[in-house]
Amino acid sequence: MENLLKGKKGIIFGALDNKSMAWKIAEKAYEQGAVFTLSNTPVALRFGELNELAEKTNSTILPADATKMSDLQMVFEKSMEILGGKVDFVLHSIGMSLNVRKKVPYQELNYEYYVKTLDISAISFHKLLQTAYKLDAINEWGSVVALSYIAAQRTLYRYNDMADAKALLESIARSFGYIYGRERKVRVNTISQSPTLTTAGSGVAGIDALMDFTERMSPLGNATAQDLADFTVTLFSDLTRKITMQNLYHDGGFASMGMSKDAMHQYNKSLEQKDCK
Ligand SMILES: NC(=O)c1ccc[n+]([C@@H]2O[C@H](COP(=O)([O-])OP(=O)(O)OC[C@H]3O[C@@H](n4cnc5c(N)ncnc54)[C@H](O)[C@@H]3O)[C@@H](O)[C@H]2O)c1
Repeated sequence: MENLLKGKKGIIFGALDNKSMAWKIAEKAYEQGAVFTLSNTPVALRFGELNELAEKTNSTILPADATKMSDLQMVFEKSMEILGGKVDFVLHSIGMSLNVRKKVPYQELNYEYYVKTLDISAISFHKLLQTAYKLDAINEWGSVVALSYIAAQRTLYRYNDMADAKALLESIARSFGYIYGRERKVRVNTISQSPTLTTAGSGVAGIDALMDFTERMSPLGNATAQDLADFTVTLFSDLTRKITMQNLYHDGGFASMGMSKDAMHQYNKSLEQKDCK
């Protein structure tokens, strides 16, 4: 299907490099006819990779720390100025945990880091929504999407305080989604994506084993960043106007599985090894 986002304007937060989910989503949105601005932190922009995406998609980069209300206000105001009016879609693809980065185990959390994790990875979503709402920056039937992970519902070894951040993120999507839907007809959803090898993904300890496990457990296999880009543009499009306040699993079926043939096969191998000892 072509031109799904023709005439749509948007803001994409969180593209860091060409592995980022936000990068793939930006490429797909551009391919489908959207115009948008790109935002990331001044530190992330120093790597310079985002210029390549901006050139490719004819977009302007707006440096901003998503935990700062004044920065967010600037991004929405400038975006409306550049794009010539209110926007139709916003992507929140932002996450970071210093506890994960510094390998602090969950039972010993550093609380300064913990507050930062929640602020960057979840509360920034509320801040973004509040800013957009105050400025009335999103058109009716507009769509806001944030990226989540199944650790919000289930415990996954080593996902650490990011699990708490994702639970909060999904709750914000429901709470703000109700108000934004009721008052302005704007949709707010989260997509719960398979583990994916990006900069943030690679920071999760044991990501390779986790990805192998989820691949074996999912009837359709892990969803890639490219698959996610395809799905996300449908949520930005007019074809999904009555979906809101949802956490949508985009994970090849993993969320509904308990044990699979493929995983059992692998597990049996380790049982056989044990028997041989
Ligand atoms: N990779 C995975 O396995 C996976 C799975 C499910 C969900 N997610 C989520 O997808 C989203 C995007 O992550 P990704 O995997 O593409 O990794 P990524 O590292 O490419 O993206 C994370 C982005 O967050 C940005 N960021 C960090 N602090 C910020 C701040 N204060 N203000 C603004 N931006 C800030 C970073 O600069 C970076 O661009 C995150 O919310 C992540 O938790 C990732």
